[in-house]
Amino acid sequence: MSYLELKGVEKYYGDFHAIKGINLNIQKGEFIVFVGPSGCGKSTLLRMIAGLEEINGGDLILDGNNITDTLPSKRDLAMVFQSYALYPHMTVEENMSFALRIAKEDPAVIKEKVEQAAAKLNLTDYLKRTPKELSGGQRQRVAIGRAIVRAPKVFLFDEPLSNLDAALRGQTRVEIAHLHRELNATSIYVTHDQVEAMTLADRVVVMQAGVIEQCGTPMELYDRPANKFVAQFIGMPKMNLMPASLIPGQSDAAVEVGVRPEHFTLVAAGEGQLKGRVEMVEALGNETLIHVELEGSKEMVIVRQYEQTSVRPDEQVGINYDASQLHCFDAQGQAIR
Ligand SMILES: Nc1ncnc2c1ncn2[C@@H]1O[C@H](COP(=O)(O)OP(=O)(O)OP(=O)(O)O)[C@@H](O)[C@H]1O
Ligand SMILES: [Mg+2]
Repeated sequence: MSYLELKGVEKYYGDFHAIKGINLNIQKGEFIVFVGPSGCGKSTLLRMIAGLEEINGGDLILDGNNITDTLPSKRDLAMVFQSYALYPHMTVEENMSFALRIAKEDPAVIKEKVEQAAAKLNLTDYLKRTPKELSGGQRQRVAIGRAIVRAPKVFLFDEPLSNLDAALRGQTRVEIAHLHRELNATSIYVTHDQVEAMTLADRVVVMQAGVIEQCGTPMELYDRPANKFVAQFIGMPKMNLMPASLIPGQSDAAVEVGVRPEHFTLVAAGEGQLKGRVEMVEALGNETLIHVELEGSKEMVIVRQYEQTSVRPDEQVGINYDASQLHCFDAQGQAIR
């Protein structure tokens, strides 16, 4: 049996069907990431699990108990928000111990739990400070610490890093991954950043318009996307999608064919399976992205190579691809295997 089960979970806001019968089984200790475009229902689903939004249909089972209608405070879950939501007038120590003090936990035990969490989060030197005396990254660690001391059954994170600058986001992401390995706590993490999703998750849940498009390990989603939406959502730059007529020899049902930029190889003009004209060259140092307009069709594709290149805009080039790396999609956008 799974640790946390969502069975046909539904949410309506008036006439608007925000969450459309979601089924998901989460195992104990798993790190699950919900990812998808803005407005697809990630936060709504997380808040329904937390008990902050009413569930209008289906069931939520945690550790064998049906908690669909259980009060948030009785669910044994802890949520970490983007906005930190710290008490400004309390010190780090008081913020972290708040829930335990309310629960009338023994002061000696509280002290020990706070000290342990602070040590894990590198906050030991900041326990007497108030939130305004901390950096954004330190504040977010306090918010995480406040969740850790409660030892909840499941940690819920809603875009916890999106208020941080890029460098700090990268650093805090590594800290969260490290923390997860150490605590082995079941976690659900919402983000619209696919790098966070791919690097943190045991399994990624890709959502669109209130439904799950695909759920799998990061590499399953990257190597075997179930449909066009997932194929183009995961991967940066996006998978190239072309009419199947441009890539002959595919399955008859294929309407569109996708190729990841790194599965195209640039070759000399006159060679290769495709030909085109270079539109733009993005030299990023570690990789080069070459934008090519295909001859005849005017389709733009991106070729990624890890070597630097001497090709320039307006040059004619050839492109090769490996037939085993093609993704074929039918008229409904579903992958053909
Ligand atoms: N209280 C509400 N009343 C009505 N509609 C709502 C309410 N809360 C959310 N919605 C709608 O439900 C949909 C899902 O919202 P949700 O906040 O879950 O999106 P999200 O995936 O978290 O997006 P983002 O990445 O922008 O945070 C949106 O279309 C939103 O407008
Ligand atoms: Mg959201």
